[in-house]
Amino acid sequence: NITPVILAGGIGSRLWPLSRKSYPKQFAALISGQSLFQTTLERLSGEGFDAPMVLTGADFRFIVTEQMAQSGKQAQAILIEPEGRNTAPAILAAAKWLEAHRPDTLMLVAPSDHAIPDAAGFRAAVRAASAAAEAGRLVTFGITPTRPETGYGYIELSDPAQAEGVQPVARFVEKPDRATAEQMLATGGYLWNGGIFLFSPAALIAAFEAHAPGLLPPVTAALEEGRHDLDFLKLDPEAWAGAEEISIDHAIMERSDRISVQPWAGAWSDLGDWRAVSEQLPQDASGNALTGAVSTIDCESSLLYAEDGGPELVGVGLRDLLVVAMRDAVLVADRNAAQKVKDVVALQRDKA
Ligand code: GDD
Ligand code: MG
Repeated sequence: NITPVILAGGIGSRLWPLSRKSYPKQFAALISGQSLFQTTLERLSGEGFDAPMVLTGADFRFIVTEQMAQSGKQAQAILIEPEGRNTAPAILAAAKWLEAHRPDTLMLVAPSDHAIPDAAGFRAAVRAASAAAEAGRLVTFGITPTRPETGYGYIELSDPAQAEGVQPVARFVEKPDRATAEQMLATGGYLWNGGIFLFSPAALIAAFEAHAPGLLPPVTAALEEGRHDLDFLKLDPEAWAGAEEISIDHAIMERSDRISVQPWAGAWSDLGDWRAVSEQLPQDASGNALTGAVSTIDCESSLLYAEDGGPELVGVGLRDLLVVAMRDAVLVADRNAAQKVKDVVALQRDKA
C-alpha cells in the first residue's frame, strides 16, 4: 500500500499577504470552500492508499488536527519540525519513521498547496507507478511544460519518443535560470517536476546515504530523541538544528541516477504565486481574475483580490498587475514579478 506523506510546513511566502507565517496558504480556502490541505487529503485517499503522515511546523499543528477532523481523516503520524529546514530533512524523517513502523509501504510525498482537479485519474497514475517504486526507483511526476518557468524543476527524458508510462530520467535540473529554461523548452524532451514523489522508504534512505549522508545523523537523532505529545511526534530541536537546510530536489533528485518519471497529462497547478492563482480563477472578458468586493474600469490581464470583509478595491486602467487587498496589508505587483513576492517577507523581517 501507499502512505501519503503530506508536506504542510512551508509558509508560502510568494502568496503574501494572504499567506502569512501564522496562517500559510495551504490552510486557507483559496479557491474552493475547502483548504488546499483538505483537498490534498481527499485526493490521496481511497483504494490503495493508507492513512496519511503529515509533516508540519509547531505553529500549525492545531490547524492540521482541526482541518483533518473536519474532513473525517486520521493520520498515521503527525511529525512536528521544530523549525523549517526545507523538504529534504522533513522527507528523510518521514522515511525513517516509516522504515521503523511500516517498512512494507511506499511513500507518496505530496505538497499540500497544489490543484489537481482529476483526483481519480491522478490516483490511478500513482498506482501505475507503484511497480517502479517497489523496484527501488525514485519516481517523479512529470508535467508538460507550457512556459519557461524558473520556479520549477525540469526532468530530461531518456527517451522522449516514449510518451506514456513510467520511464527513466536522463537528468533533473532544479530551478534553472531563464536562459536555460527557454532553451529546454525550445529543445523539447523535458517535463516539469510536479513536486510529487513516490518511493519506498528503503530506496530513499539509500539515496540519502549515497548523496546527502550528512543529513542522516541529525535526522535520525531528531526522531530518536523526539517527544510524543498528544497526537504529535515533535522532533528534537537540538538535533534538528544540525540538519542542513536543503530541498529534496537539490539534495537527491539532481544527484541520483535512479530517477524515473510518470508523465501526468491531466491539469496540474502549483498555486505557488499570485500569477498561478489568478490563472486558476474564472476570468472576465478582458482576462481579469476578480475575487471579493472588486470592480474594474478598463483593466486587462490583472488580478484583483479583496479579502472577505476587506476594503473595496477598484482598478482603473490596469495592465498585467496583481493586486491583493487584505484588511491589514495590500500587495501591488507586476504580473511577471510574481516569484519575487517572496522577498517581501525578508523585507519585513529586516524592518522589524
Ligand atoms: N513540512 C515541511 N517543512 N514542508 C515544507 C518545508 C519544510 O521545511 N518547506 C517547504 N515545504 C512544503 C511546501 O509547503 C510545499 O508544499 C512543498 O513543501 C514544496 O515546497 P516549495 O517551497 O513550494 O517548493 P517549490 O514550489 O519552490 O519547488 C518544488 O515544487 C515544484 C512544483 O510545484 C520543487 O519540487 C520543484 O522541482 C517543483 O517543480
Ligand atoms: Mg511550491
